[in-house]
Amino acid sequence: MPAVVLVGAQWGDEGKGKATDLLGSRVDAVVKFNGGNNAGHTIVIGEGDHREKYALHLLPSGILTPGCAPVIGNGVVIDLGVLFEEIDGLEARGVDTSGLVVSGSAHVIPPYNRTLDKVTERFLGNSRIGTTGRGIGPTYADKMSRVGIRVQDLFDRDVLHLKVSGALALKNQILVKIYNRKGFDVDAVTDELASYAERLAPMVADTALLLEQMLDDGKTIVLEAGQATLLDVDHGTYPFVTSSNATAGGACTGSGIPPTRITRVIAVVKAYTTRVGEGPFPTELLDAKGELLRDAGAEFGTTTGRPRRCGWFDAVIARYANRVNGVTDFVLTKLDVLTGMDEVPVCVAYDVGGVRHDELPMTQAEFARAVPIYETFPGWDEDISKARTLDDLPRNARDYIAALEEMIKAPISAVGVGPGRDETVAIHDLLD
Ligand code: GDP
Ligand code: IMO
Ligand code: MG
Repeated sequence: MPAVVLVGAQWGDEGKGKATDLLGSRVDAVVKFNGGNNAGHTIVIGEGDHREKYALHLLPSGILTPGCAPVIGNGVVIDLGVLFEEIDGLEARGVDTSGLVVSGSAHVIPPYNRTLDKVTERFLGNSRIGTTGRGIGPTYADKMSRVGIRVQDLFDRDVLHLKVSGALALKNQILVKIYNRKGFDVDAVTDELASYAERLAPMVADTALLLEQMLDDGKTIVLEAGQATLLDVDHGTYPFVTSSNATAGGACTGSGIPPTRITRVIAVVKAYTTRVGEGPFPTELLDAKGELLRDAGAEFGTTTGRPRRCGWFDAVIARYANRVNGVTDFVLTKLDVLTGMDEVPVCVAYDVGGVRHDELPMTQAEFARAVPIYETFPGWDEDISKARTLDDLPRNARDYIAALEEMIKAPISAVGVGPGRDETVAIHDLLD
């Protein structure tokens, strides 16, 4: 019966992959409902010498759990080359990917949109977004402009040719006349996209119908967001956002599961904050403390390898994520990274031009000028990676968790103390 949504509460890379994986064998399907291969989820499985690390971009994290059906929903944009590369990579490591189901209504990322993403960023110069360059923005723009190519279009060459030719009529003008690049050949693009059709066909289904039937049969479904609340195109730090709805509402539109079937919303939040790409970030640390967090937390992008910008925990943002997503449970990750700090500051409000803001300011202009107001908590030195219950944690770590819980106004139901599946402090059951 339950459909559980799992979202990121900050600017991405909170550890959503690990959190989804943690729910594991009790879940019958994991659905990716937004984004594409801009996402990067690192999942670590096994213990000691048997630790295996997986980096997923397009496939839902459930793919690593035997018996859990991985589903790519209609809200996703798919780079077909990357999809099959990822499938082949996992199969080569012994992961069974045969259960993968792909929505016929999902859009595909055509090669010209990868080029357009990159040249647009170059053109923007200092005003760039800092995208992943994967063609995500232009493909969602095509979807809204009704010139997108969908998975279902791949199976009729005439339809595909017509759609590619319609899209390129304008895109080639832009590429050639504005960006001074070579245009794309309609036949070549059609051939490239059509070349995936045969292999893709058995995976394609009406995923919304399939998921509805699973819910009727009493199955448990997790809807896993890529990106995060502050990167959401409506609710994030626009224009420094991705081009999809990464918040809980997006789980419905991106999967076809209606809101009345969602029973729980889990938000994953890091014990500090990181951001990749451009855009405002009030608690960013540009000094040695930021370096320390980056090194201790291995904060380098899973997708582009870029160093992540690091800063202290921002309770204003986490509270906002609670509000926008209707969070029932928070999963607090990477608490272990804070071990060894003398003190741990938390941003409790902002000062914007002399005015205190306890909630996110209404405009981005104000948010860009927000100066954090900090409350500082004492740190801890003890190694917490072996902690599995709250009682195993040192007093100061427990107090830090309790203080955050109070500020973000929802229960923290699990705490990550290391990247491994087992390195988690369980507080409340996330699926009961
Ligand atoms: P996602 O995009 O939200 O799935 O997150 P990423 O996988 O991009 O980044 C999170 C990183 O933190 C990954 O390398 C995880 O293996 C790692 N990670 C997740 N939870 C924890 C934790 O509690 N402690 C530590 N030290 N690492 C963690
Ligand atoms: P996961 O799922 C962190 C950021 C990019 C850029 C902006 C727009 O791993 O948390 P895009 O290519 O989507 O048009 O880029 O969004 N971004 C992410 N940052 N984690 C992600 O995914 C991200 N996906 C996109 O860095 O600032
Ligand atoms: Mg990531």
